[in-house]
Amino acid sequence: MSEIAILGAGIMGHGIALVFALGGHQVRLTDSRAETLEKAPGLMEAALETLREAGEADASWTAERLRDAIRCSASPAETVRGAEVVIEAITELPDAKRALFAEIDPLLGDDTILASNTSYLDVFPLIPARRQRQALIAHWYTPPYLVDLVDIVPGPETDPAFVERMRALIEGMGQVPIVLKKFISGYIANRIQSAITLEVFKLLDEGYATAREIDDAIIHGLALRIPILGHLAKADFTGIELVRNALANRTYDPPVPTGRSESVDRLVGEGRTGVMAGKGFFDWGGRSPADLFRDRDRRLLALKKALREIGPLTGE
Ligand SMILES: NC(=O)c1ccc[n+]([C@@H]2O[C@H](COP(=O)([O-])OP(=O)(O)OC[C@H]3O[C@@H](n4cnc5c(N)ncnc54)[C@H](O)[C@@H]3O)[C@@H](O)[C@H]2O)c1
Repeated sequence: MSEIAILGAGIMGHGIALVFALGGHQVRLTDSRAETLEKAPGLMEAALETLREAGEADASWTAERLRDAIRCSASPAETVRGAEVVIEAITELPDAKRALFAEIDPLLGDDTILASNTSYLDVFPLIPARRQRQALIAHWYTPPYLVDLVDIVPGPETDPAFVERMRALIEGMGQVPIVLKKFISGYIANRIQSAITLEVFKLLDEGYATAREIDDAIIHGLALRIPILGHLAKADFTGIELVRNALANRTYDPPVPTGRSESVDRLVGEGRTGVMAGKGFFDWGGRSPADLFRDRDRRLLALKKALREIGPLTGE
């Protein structure tokens, strides 16, 4: 069992706290906004209930046990002092992160892993020089208690022993750590998702297909094979010569990023901002966001269970 400190209790922080608690660790959680810190236990309990229902957390995980495993404190010093791992999950603003790293620097032990959950920032220049050997990125996806992938990225001066400790810790909780050789903004999955985003908005904006048709193509075509094969094993099944010919023929012209999408701008202008507003690309039939999130999570859990039974088809 390790003592884990999590800074930031927002969308990611409370979810990461739940992952570590269920993984058998003692967690301390803080946030600079009192209201966010107050809401965190309720959100974690609701997520725990969904996990219990699906058999992903056993019945001994009561709300009371959770409150013992995750201590919330308004004090960053109380949260960080003596922790073996400190995870920064605050707002994605370089100045805020730099100030926080400077503030906690005197509180860190020389063996403490200092991890940032940043999505896109090269955080290493924001971290004090003497902490570079302890610093790394550990990037979870939302919701972290359902999505198992965690990207681990060392900085230019990170001691490999810290990377290995973080990798082992995450693997020990049943999640899937991937260690990148060096920092690239968006890591692997978010970069691929960004490429899909550009393509989807090109097809929509230029009138090739409707939102329904695009999602049907993704759900019934693209997505079906990905959980079993990934992309490169799928290429092995396609045949690498065909892959080479397709590259050489250059029939695919990737969209040029313009920094905006007409479809997205129109939806935002109409107040159709997604599930929280009841409408986005689709109309969600008056269902509450909480109901929709629960429905999504139940389906994801059922899919994970089925995929665990089926297993991926991969070579060495
Ligand atoms: N939302 C996602 O899908 C997602 C996924 C992966 C990674 N991330 C990354 O995780 C980090 C947090 O994102 P989020 O979506 O949880 O944001 P969020 O806005 O929901 O939460 C951030 C929290 O940090 C708090 N905060 C700000 N400064 C602080 C400080 N000095 N000390 C303590 N708390 C402070 C804020 O009050 C807020 O509650 C970002 O770096 C983001 O890029 C987000």
